[in-house]
Amino acid sequence: MSRITDLKIDLVEVCEAAARACAPYVGSGRKDEGDGLAVDAMRKRINQVPMRGTVVIGEGAKDEAPALYDGEEVGTGEGPGVDIAVDPIEGTNLFAKDMPGSICTLAAAPEGSMYRPGSCFYMDKQVYPKAARGKIDPEAPVKERLAQLARALGKEVSEIKVFVLDKPRHKELLAEIYGAGAKVRLATDGDVNGAIQAILNMGCDALFGIGGTPEGIVTACAARAMGAEMFGRMAPQKDFEIEACKREGIDTKRIITRDELVTSDDVLFIATGLTSGAYVRHVKTGHDAFGRFMTTDTIVLDGGVGNVRRVQTTIHV
Ligand code: FBP
Repeated sequence: MSRITDLKIDLVEVCEAAARACAPYVGSGRKDEGDGLAVDAMRKRINQVPMRGTVVIGEGAKDEAPALYDGEEVGTGEGPGVDIAVDPIEGTNLFAKDMPGSICTLAAAPEGSMYRPGSCFYMDKQVYPKAARGKIDPEAPVKERLAQLARALGKEVSEIKVFVLDKPRHKELLAEIYGAGAKVRLATDGDVNGAIQAILNMGCDALFGIGGTPEGIVTACAARAMGAEMFGRMAPQKDFEIEACKREGIDTKRIITRDELVTSDDVLFIATGLTSGAYVRHVKTGHDAFGRFMTTDTIVLDGGVGNVRRVQTTIHV
């Protein structure tokens, strides 16, 4: 029996509460204030959820932002044991600048089922839609992987579009993708978004490149929920991180499969829009006969069988 996906309404409300709390700071140029409000609202609501939850993937250490910390126990303390991966604002720069693609996101899976990345803050990711599952050699050069993907999707390589974060570290990767004749959708931030666009077939066919490890675990939950494909590889970028990974014996060459990143199909991915993006809209505010309201737009992926729910909630505040 599914235990985790039974919590979906409660956990949707966690993301919605965080989105409503930080929405007034969209476009304010003040990402930390928004992040702090989202974290506080998330913590308050998640502690009412009937579960024995542990935040196994939080955020904060990377850039010392406000955070739900790794190891923090959340929930009422009764009910199923749950691993929680959380990013109260994914795309804080997008949020602060009111650019598309900022979301409040959370993933949940049974206790012990999410990969523990140690001190490695960056992961090299490959995400592909379901049609490509089992048909990509993750160790193959970019050109070959694009050919494998094109075959799996019944497309020409020139019709393949890959989402890549627009970062200097991706110069070579971009050259390889363009060199193979494929297209690129670039974004300054938000690789969870890029992965979801590839998983849900929203004009992108894959995500390649190095981004945050917390975002990688959240993405793996979305990929598993939708039967999609994903591979990760630890890719420390900063000196202190490289040292820490060496100390912890982290193998930066090893490909980590989707099913190692999250070992259960009883998995839940939730994202509420903060700024409008490809699959969720921004938080809307207004007045009606009941007073002031806020409307949130949320997507829920769960169960390993491709269930997609869209939840639009209007709360009078
Ligand atoms: P934040 O919301 O923490 O700013 O993350 C945004 C993001 O673009 C992620 O989507 C991505 O995984 C990560 O940052 C990449 O990190 P960096 O900006 O340090 O390259």
